[in-house]
This record gives sequence, structure tokens and C-alpha cells, in this order.
Amino acid sequence: MLFSLKVKGYKALMYVFKILGKVIPTPKPTLFTGSGSSLELCSAIAQMGTRKILLVTDAIIVKLGLLNDIKKTLDKNGVEYVIYDGIEPDPTYDQIEAGHALLKQNGCEAILAVGGGSPIDAAKVISTIATNEKSIDKLAGWFKVRKPCLPLYVIPTTAGTGSEVTVAAVVSDPITHKKTPVIDPKLVPLMAALDGSLMTGIPASITAATGMDALTHAIEAFIAVNATNETDRYALAATRIIMENLPKVMDNGKDLDARQNMAIASCYAGLAFTKAGLGYVHAFSHNFGAYYHTPHGLGNAIVLPYILEYSKETVTDRLAQLAKASGLQENNQSDPQLAEKLIVHIRSMLKAFNIPEQLEALKKEDIPAIAKAALKEAHFNYSVPKYMNQADCEKLLYKMTMTT
Ligand SMILES: NC(=O)c1ccc[n+]([C@@H]2O[C@H](COP(=O)([O-])OP(=O)(O)OC[C@H]3O[C@@H](n4cnc5c(N)ncnc54)[C@H](O)[C@@H]3O)[C@@H](O)[C@H]2O)c1
Ligand SMILES: [Fe+2]
Repeated sequence: MLFSLKVKGYKALMYVFKILGKVIPTPKPTLFTGSGSSLELCSAIAQMGTRKILLVTDAIIVKLGLLNDIKKTLDKNGVEYVIYDGIEPDPTYDQIEAGHALLKQNGCEAILAVGGGSPIDAAKVISTIATNEKSIDKLAGWFKVRKPCLPLYVIPTTAGTGSEVTVAAVVSDPITHKKTPVIDPKLVPLMAALDGSLMTGIPASITAATGMDALTHAIEAFIAVNATNETDRYALAATRIIMENLPKVMDNGKDLDARQNMAIASCYAGLAFTKAGLGYVHAFSHNFGAYYHTPHGLGNAIVLPYILEYSKETVTDRLAQLAKASGLQENNQSDPQLAEKLIVHIRSMLKAFNIPEQLEALKKEDIPAIAKAALKEAHFNYSVPKYMNQADCEKLLYKMTMTT
């Protein structure tokens, strides 16, 4: 009884989000696409009259030489840059504050992020604190950003987060490791380049995890109650492209066409979820990241089949549509058969990608607290199709431990 009352409250809150999503426009960045588009973006930064930028990245990107051509193009176009490569996966407040200090010290007037979701999210927050002069704590949550951010240019080097088009940045508290989102339309970058040629060297484990992150964005956005016709189109297109191209890049990471397709799909999935929202998969996975530093995409990949199984009776028709977009329809299968087929197919993909069915790090004694935090995140942020209570949530988490 108490739970059904609470669910009414969560649904009402999600309805408010839906209305806000309609009245508050979400900007979209100018997009450059294709091999070499990252260099076109560098020329565009110069054309915008920018003289000095902070280049936010991570040490591995620098070591791999992914900045070489970007630096040459910036040099050629007379744009000065200061490189900040102190971002690590799941960026912390300290890493972001250090980047902000460097930006101030050098008088940079714009930011270029080159990397996966971690450097991009860190750059989003640096660009926000630069103009708003507020601590990260004060910006965390929904719509706390008052002033426009510093111009932000983005070159993703993974095909996963879609952060180049989303209103969100996820940052971690260094002490509690709790992942905190900063959500505001002002966080959407000004321009982005989807350049698959920077992605051909991504190791298989990162390709699989980031690709599954993108697929999860598409699926969670498609089954969300707040999905719209526009988000449905992006989510179905992303699903179609990922199902075709993720196995290809797992087979041959150097397949440039498939890498480029994955970059586009990840962006489409970002466009879907930035409006429709996410769901329990992300709520669980963010907490696995907070507790065990589980890579974001890996956490999603492990959780996804469990949540689809949990929700399938409520969203059978939606899962059937996703199955059709995944090319799984043969003969005249019913919606329940197609929904089941999608879940089986995702499980077989995970097996082929060497992604385990359980999370080795997950400790039974942490489950009540993880369940509580995940439910809080989901119920106050995501329009999930079927709500779960603490007991259901703990039961699902037990299934994800190695000892079941
Ligand atoms: N803002 C959003 O909308 C959004 C959405 C989903 C996830 N996220 C956040 O994004 C972060 C995860 O981002 P991610 O999955 O892209 O990973 P990441 O940025 O954390 O990078 C993971 C690893 O991949 C390496 N890497 C990146 N590009 C590479 C390349 N081209 N070749 C070889 N190695 C490369 C990095 O150096 C790093 O070691 C998490 O913090 C997550 O919470 C944000
Ligand atoms: Fe994600």
C-alpha cells in the first residue's frame, strides 16, 4: 500500500520532467562526422575566433598519440592550447578543480575535450564552474547552472556515452565515490566531431563495454515512459546500427566503416536518452562504479539482461520493436516471443564479448545499501516502466553475485 502510494509520487515527478523536457529546449551541437572530422573541428575552433584553449584529456590518449594531428591542426590555425591530461575514468572533483585552476592560470577562453566520457564530462563541468563560479557540490543535480558555460568543443574517442550531445556530466566524490550528475541544457557542447579513425585502436574489452553502454542508452530510452516520437526514432536507429556494427568492431577493431557507424550510433543513443531518460540499468551500474570502480559500460552490460527480464511483461511490445530493429524477426513471431528473443540475443552477445553474467566484485553485505542508492537514483530521475521495491531490488542484485 505504502509502496503503491510512493510509486504514484514518482510517476507524478516524472510527469513534471516530461513537461519540463517539452518547454525547456535541449540544444544540439554542430556535428562534424567522418574520418578526419576531428581536424575539421579544430579548424572551426579557429574560425570561431578562439585564441587559446584548455585541451582536456587523459594520459592514455596522450600516450597513444591521438592528439598528434589535432595539435598540428591547432598549431597550423594559430590556436594556442594548454594540455590537461589529469582525468581518469570516473573523474573526481579534485581532477576537475585542477583542470579549472589550469584554465584560469592560463587565461583559456574555450575548452576542447578529447577522450571518452570521462574527459568529456570533466570538461563539461570545468566549462560550467569557469563561468558560474560555484563549487561542484552547488551545481550537482537538475538545472542548477545559471550562466552560459565557456564554449565547449568535443571529440569523443570511444563510441559509448553519447556525452557529446547530452545535458549531463557524471562526476565522482573522491571520498564517498558517490557518482553525482550535473544536469542542465547549458552543458551541451557547442560543436562535436564523430571521427571513427580515432577509435580503431580501442582494446576489445573497452570496445565491448562502451558499445554495450550505447546499446543500454538506446534500450532504456526506448522503454522509458517519457519516450517521445523523436527519441524513439533515435533509439531504434541506434539499436539497429549497434546490433550490426558492434560484432564487426569486436571481430576487427580496424574496420573503419564499422567504427564510424558505432560513433554515429552512440551519438543517436545519446540524443534519445538525453530527452527520454535512462532506467534501473544505469542506476545499478552507477553504484557498481561508486562501490567497486566497475567500468561504466561493463556494469551496464552485466545488469541489462536482468532488468529486461524484470520489465519484460510491462514493455513486451517495446522489446518486440527493438528485436525487429535488431533484425531478429523470422516468420510471424508474437511480441512475447520477440521480446524473449531480444534478451536471449543480448545474453549471447555478452558471452561472445567475454562479459560475465555476474559481477565478481559485488559483495553480499553491500547489497542493501546499493539497492537503496540505486532505487533513490532511479525513482527521482528516471521514468522506468515497472517500479521495484527494496526487496525486489535486493533479490535481483543477489542474482548478480558470483555465489548464487
Ligand atoms: N554525460 C553523459 O551523458 C554520460 C553518459 C554515459 C556515461 N557517462 C560517464 O562516462 C564515463 C565513462 O566513459 P567511457 O566509457 O567513454 O570511458 P572513459 O572515458 O572512462 O575511458 C575508459 C578507458 O578507455 C581509454 N580510451 C578512451 N579512448 C580510447 C581510444 N580511442 N583508444 C584506446 N583507449 C581509449 C581511456 O584512456 C580509459 O582508460 C563514466 O564516468 C560514465 O559515468 C556519461
Ligand atoms: Fe551510460
